[in-house]
Amino acid sequence: MTNPRRVLILGALSAIATATARLLAAEGARFVLVARDAEALETLAADLRARGATSAATVAADLAVASPEALLPALLEPLGGAIDAAYLAYGVLGDLGLAERDLTVAAQVIDTNYRSAALWCLAVAAVLERQRAGSLVVIGSVAGDRGRKSNYLYGSTKAGLGVLVQGLAHRLAKVGARAVLVKPGFVDTPMTEHVAGRRGPLWATPEQVAPALVKAASGGGTVVYTPWFWRPIMAIIRAVPGPIFHRTNL
Ligand SMILES: NC(=O)c1ccc[n+]([C@@H]2O[C@H](COP(=O)([O-])OP(=O)(O)OC[C@H]3O[C@@H](n4cnc5c(N)ncnc54)[C@H](OP(=O)(O)O)[C@@H]3O)[C@@H](O)[C@H]2O)c1
Repeated sequence: MTNPRRVLILGALSAIATATARLLAAEGARFVLVARDAEALETLAADLRARGATSAATVAADLAVASPEALLPALLEPLGGAIDAAYLAYGVLGDLGLAERDLTVAAQVIDTNYRSAALWCLAVAAVLERQRAGSLVVIGSVAGDRGRKSNYLYGSTKAGLGVLVQGLAHRLAKVGARAVLVKPGFVDTPMTEHVAGRRGPLWATPEQVAPALVKAASGGGTVVYTPWFWRPIMAIIRAVPGPIFHRTNL
């Protein structure tokens, strides 16, 4: 039997991360699960053990505030100091209308989705580089592919994170480690529960996108769209000339 995969999940209570963790649990993975709600984390850990996880340790932390340098060594301890796959899943959509009027709201979106996420990515990448193995899988978004008036602040944080991950993939390639950006389209999760029409044909469930996140840690390209049809859709959206795009209500 191969050794169980050592998996760190930053933002383990996200619906997409939880669906991914369930698939990894069935393969016998060892987990360190990080999120803000200690009680919900314990429930998730018990669920993953019941589904076949070899172990599941939990750490309650606000990832936008915690220092990756200070916390990461403690997170790696239950995994014997090494990571096979690290997932960065936490994020906030934010209220754009509010953020346009109150820059402290804008700052919270930027701090959570870009500033802190970038620092966690850099800290994890240093571990993978030292190990000369392992994968960092970061959840970006198709929203980062083109700025549009309905969600450009959120989109800009995901775009920035995408370029960071692209650079990390380039840096890690020479030592045999990986960084991958996974870009989901519309996914029916608590983050999008306020969105009308979220059962439409372009919408996916967390369970439908989770296999792409599992696969991303093992190989393949360094930018993954999930479901796959978002790659051609976003290629078209990026290609629409500005004057035409500005007449749309996207
Ligand atoms: N749903 C979509 O349509 C969609 C599309 C593209 C990309 N994404 C991305 O997918 C990722 C997962 O989101 P989801 O759709 O699964 O939504 P979700 O279930 O609402 O998950 C978001 C998670 O982020 C956590 N979080 C936010 N700020 C945090 C912080 N400072 N410290 C620790 N945890 C924090 C939330 O925890 P709390 O419960 O403590 O707030 C929540 O568990 C996000 O990065 C999101 O941007 C989602």
